[in-house]
Amino acid sequence: MHNTVQISDTLFWVGTGDRRIPRFENIFPLTSGVNYNSYLIIDEKTCLIDTVDADVTEQFVDNIEHVLGDRKLDYLVINHMEPDHCGSIERISQLYPEVKLVGNAKTFKFFEQFYESDLTDRYHVVKDKDELSLGNHVLRFYLAPLVHWPEVMVTYDETDKVLFAADVFGNFGVTKGNLFADEVNFQRDWLDEFRRYYINIVGKHGRNVQQLFKKIGDLEFKMICSLHGHIYRTPEDIKLVMDKYQTWSTYQPEQQGVVLVYSSMYGNTELVMNLIASRLAKAGIREIDMYDVSQTDASYIIAKMHQYSHVVLGFQNYNTTMYPKMDALIREALLTGFSHRKIGLVCNSSWGGKALKEMQDYLASGTNLETFTEPLSLLSALKPEQESQIDDFVQALLESMA
Ligand code: FEO
Repeated sequence: MHNTVQISDTLFWVGTGDRRIPRFENIFPLTSGVNYNSYLIIDEKTCLIDTVDADVTEQFVDNIEHVLGDRKLDYLVINHMEPDHCGSIERISQLYPEVKLVGNAKTFKFFEQFYESDLTDRYHVVKDKDELSLGNHVLRFYLAPLVHWPEVMVTYDETDKVLFAADVFGNFGVTKGNLFADEVNFQRDWLDEFRRYYINIVGKHGRNVQQLFKKIGDLEFKMICSLHGHIYRTPEDIKLVMDKYQTWSTYQPEQQGVVLVYSSMYGNTELVMNLIASRLAKAGIREIDMYDVSQTDASYIIAKMHQYSHVVLGFQNYNTTMYPKMDALIREALLTGFSHRKIGLVCNSSWGGKALKEMQDYLASGTNLETFTEPLSLLSALKPEQESQIDDFVQALLESMA
């Protein structure tokens, strides 16, 4: 049974969602699954934009067959060759033996790496800014390497001014009937996951996102159709997601605020973080967030580290080196391009100070990760006579935020 959405007279959503998948890319936890969006243009020629994960192929095929009816499929545009989108190419190629596969040279290199089918006679290879006419609709292709994989491209429908954006502007979570961002409270209910998706999936490649924006910056967008999440079609929603990507891809904080991130085996380091947070609150700071690295998946924490201007990291030695979960978190954060932030360090050096040196080396390996004051040190547990050190630490943090 099909489940499709008619977007316009000639454009249909034929994607699917998967709420059973526990982790995206087998790394990032999903609480409500993920959409695999796919779009079908009906013109003199018919054209499918991307496919879906192999786990949901059957629903996808039902959708395509319903919209196509007795027409054949002429083109399949492959914007992205990650298996969550290319997992049904072989099946579609079997169902529609005349379909031409539209991709760039790297698209087909990746296809041959992943799959056994010899479909070379179907290849329609495009270069940057090449066009393809479907009759009324004219598609133009813009290569977008490393947004998110090397072969990525986006497709712009010049007739209807629709951007088929590959992973760009994607989100976690299966849409709940309402496919358009203006049909839900996007900022309240979806923005946190939209940020977590970008920072963890695409975050490392900010420079490439900027290059793509330069390339497509003068185009008019009436609709943005990503491969995950909602469709953006109002000027307000299009501006919102563009502005967020502009901020994130240049590694600027979205807002002044403090996220406190800590590891704590018996609560002593945690107490220091609570004391810092309480003093910040007393000073009138309202944007404060706090995470225990052992309780919250790194992807959520790292997204918040990119959101706020200031980050306080509390950690300790563990078997003479840094507590492993904090070590993993900071390495993963650096892999997402975490940079341009003011940092405060709280180190519990019960057995010695190697963890502090390791953290300082990590920060030095990043870009513009400056500490706003000297590290706050404790030995196993904070002593009452150290209270003034917390006051001094918080004062330096407040001055840095001024
Ligand atoms: Fe949604 Fe990079 O795959």
